[in-house]
Amino acid sequence: MSPTESDLRAPDWFRTVVFYELPVRSFYDSNGDGIGDLAGVTEKLDYLRDLGVGAIWLLPFYVSPWKDDGYDISDHYRVDPRFGTMDDLAALVEGAHARGIRVLGDLVTNHISDQHPWFQEARKDRSSPYRSWFLWSDTGKEFSRARLMFPDYEHSNWTWDDAAGQYYFHRFFAWQPDLNYDTPAVHAEMLNFARFWLARGLDGFRCDAVPYLYKREGTKCQSLPEVHQFFQTLRAMMDAEFPGTALVAEANQSVPETVAYFDQGKEFQMVLHFPAMPNFFLSIGDQNPKRVLDVLRATLPGVPGDCGWAYFLRNHDELSLEQVSDEERALFFREFDSTPGARIHNGIRRRLAPLLKGDDSSIVLLTALILGLPGSPYLYYGDEIGMGDRLDLTDRDGVRTPMQWSSGPNGGFSTAPPEELTRPIVTDAPFAPAARNVADEDRQPGSLLWRVRTLLRIRASHAAVFGSERFEGIELGDSPVLGFWRPSAEYRLLGLYNFAPEPATVTVPLPPTVWASPVELLRTGSSSTVVGHDYMARLDRRGFSWTLFLTRRARPVP
Ligand code: NOJ
Ligand code: CA
Repeated sequence: MSPTESDLRAPDWFRTVVFYELPVRSFYDSNGDGIGDLAGVTEKLDYLRDLGVGAIWLLPFYVSPWKDDGYDISDHYRVDPRFGTMDDLAALVEGAHARGIRVLGDLVTNHISDQHPWFQEARKDRSSPYRSWFLWSDTGKEFSRARLMFPDYEHSNWTWDDAAGQYYFHRFFAWQPDLNYDTPAVHAEMLNFARFWLARGLDGFRCDAVPYLYKREGTKCQSLPEVHQFFQTLRAMMDAEFPGTALVAEANQSVPETVAYFDQGKEFQMVLHFPAMPNFFLSIGDQNPKRVLDVLRATLPGVPGDCGWAYFLRNHDELSLEQVSDEERALFFREFDSTPGARIHNGIRRRLAPLLKGDDSSIVLLTALILGLPGSPYLYYGDEIGMGDRLDLTDRDGVRTPMQWSSGPNGGFSTAPPEELTRPIVTDAPFAPAARNVADEDRQPGSLLWRVRTLLRIRASHAAVFGSERFEGIELGDSPVLGFWRPSAEYRLLGLYNFAPEPATVTVPLPPTVWASPVELLRTGSSSTVVGHDYMARLDRRGFSWTLFLTRRARPVP
């Protein structure tokens, strides 16, 4: 039975589903022109449903010169023709909804493409109404405390424009002029941008580059009170006009600045957890998962009840190392990135599998970790099959290569000649289509795809406990094992994760509120016994277990 609109838009729907980020451009090419398209995503919806995905986040699909892969929009109200038509989008949304999958777009509000008619008008004519939509300067010296986002590409946030006879401000690349939020028409336009796509059935947005909309002299020009006001207005509009839709923030900031985007439940339902993400990897690096507990203890209490963190391991950008100390950054580079050319901007441009040296157990361990925490897990396309990357491509393109559907030509992505592909296929042997692809992994029980699918199934069939907001870290001393409880009304879920490259044993005292007769939901290479009120587990290298205990209150009367 297809889910109804009210099932899809039930309050808090995002607490129990797994999100899947995908670039339309690289997912599946339905018409053989070498470029992934919306109809291609529609063709693969059964794959996503079978994987257990409850929502997809489409990277920007609006008209764009693709100098920043669609984050440089030149027409906010049209699908880029290379991706298809408005009807293709409608068919994708309808097909997704019929399978219980929501569809998020990417709301890029901070900047536009310099090719956009708004900017072209503004630069040519000082009296154009669009002039005030951008920030201009005669000196290019204002807002000098605003951080440079791509210091390896741009040396200033101001670029001189001959046609305008002035400098214009851009937080990112020079071809992405920032909009001026002190101009009310810009607000109205961006709210309409959101409305336009929500009216076409989208279930919400990942919001791009959230902190930077407003600039004020003498500040770092990020996370200013006006920014919060703008997103509260957006959220209020969505709640009123499109109830049940959701927003997730991209705000790569310090802990207090990031937590602020929940704003007592009035702003974003989800915030991508940039402060936690590097700690998941670092725990493998030095086998000290205490750092994960520390960051969760610092960040979970601030989350309002109807909101949740959005956890991710990798995405379409570099793995950002902005939120870690210098020592941690050094540890990261030592453990995960020995390859020349892998570092870019403030991080590393590698995918999950190459970072973890192609070790499926480590991939499953970290995936199970983000699935086990209170909040919403976000998977990045291709990581479920262990796809690799290409360091020979420019900027971050190497982590956006075509999805590997089979071991056939072009990895089954497209029937176009290889030289016409929008991006070349991965060729690095352990991660290339011959070794890593959907069709083969689907046929091999025990493959990474099967293991990831199993994790999602188990999580979905215990939605009450995984969707609970409660979390209690367990003190395990110097153990390489991370342990936590996820209490819910009837059960307590025990999660144990061994970050060491060798087996480990742990003893967890059981709280008096549980019956000491556990149900193992899943364990990889682990065994356990209960002695008195102690739960003793032996976990294989990079093994983990999810174990359910009935609470005493909930025990059925014999
Ligand atoms: C963040 C996006 O994730 C990234 O890909 C893009 O380059 C910048 N925002 C600028 O839009
Ligand atoms: Ca195509």
